[in-house]
Amino acid sequence: MTLTFTPLHPLFAAEVPNVDLPVLTDPTVLAEIRAGMEQYGVLVFRRQPFKDEEQLEFAKRLDGTLHTQTSQAVLVKNRLGTEALSDISNVGPNGEILPPNDRRRMGSLANRLWHTDASFVSPPGRFSMLSARVLPPVSADTEFACMRAAYDALDDDMKTLTTGLKVHHSIAYSRETLGFEFTPAEKEKLKGTVQPLVRAMKDGRRALYLASHASSIIDWSLAEGRLLIRDLMEHATQPRFVYRHHWQEADFIIWDNRTTMHRATAFDDKKYRREMRRTTTLDIEATTNA
Ligand code: OGA
Ligand code: MN
Repeated sequence: MTLTFTPLHPLFAAEVPNVDLPVLTDPTVLAEIRAGMEQYGVLVFRRQPFKDEEQLEFAKRLDGTLHTQTSQAVLVKNRLGTEALSDISNVGPNGEILPPNDRRRMGSLANRLWHTDASFVSPPGRFSMLSARVLPPVSADTEFACMRAAYDALDDDMKTLTTGLKVHHSIAYSRETLGFEFTPAEKEKLKGTVQPLVRAMKDGRRALYLASHASSIIDWSLAEGRLLIRDLMEHATQPRFVYRHHWQEADFIIWDNRTTMHRATAFDDKKYRREMRRTTTLDIEATTNA
């Protein structure tokens, strides 16, 4: 063991010092990071000055194939030249802060709803890796919720009830809850997909698989399905399950979308620039364990 994992929360999330990810190729160390992800779900690395190309290459070395449909890619063009690099910023093509009514800005406000990346497509996202490039002088934190601990804390009746349930996820639905409207043609492109409500992980633990995109429970009435989803979301995001990350310049965070949810927190994005880049990998196994 060459890496150190310093826990950041009693239930999950750890910081990993003394590693230089942009140039990391040692298979033993990469394997330790994967094992750390399995155990902690969220890993924080400080001072990782990634360039775009380095971030794409690192993501592939760590976890295989990159996801290219993690946002409204079908609706908004990515200014970074590849859909594998998500532009998590409030900045336009000429480096200007996006105006308040800009469609991309409005779309990214939905990151403030608790979610897991790309649950609305198949395969969904496995690991997401977010690199802080430009930070505002005010807090613009990200919160993470531990979905294995949330599952473990359900009572037995709820564990029984949730077993085997399937959930429809759609990005159109999560945007509509904030008042967005889509044309029929856009809706057709954003139809969504079905995911299991509970996921069994390799270590034998189970995780609740939820997101703002969760729109209905298959074979349940809409109302009853949405009420159960709300109850579970409330349960899973209690403060005891949440780690809040305060970003520093060049921080790099990897999270497992199968065992955590996350959300951005509010800051004055009409005034301050915040530029992050995200790479996400494909959760290929998700299609088989549903
Ligand atoms: C993401 C995301 C939250 C943030 O990159 O997937 O939800 O705080 N980001 O930027
Ligand atoms: Mn996200």
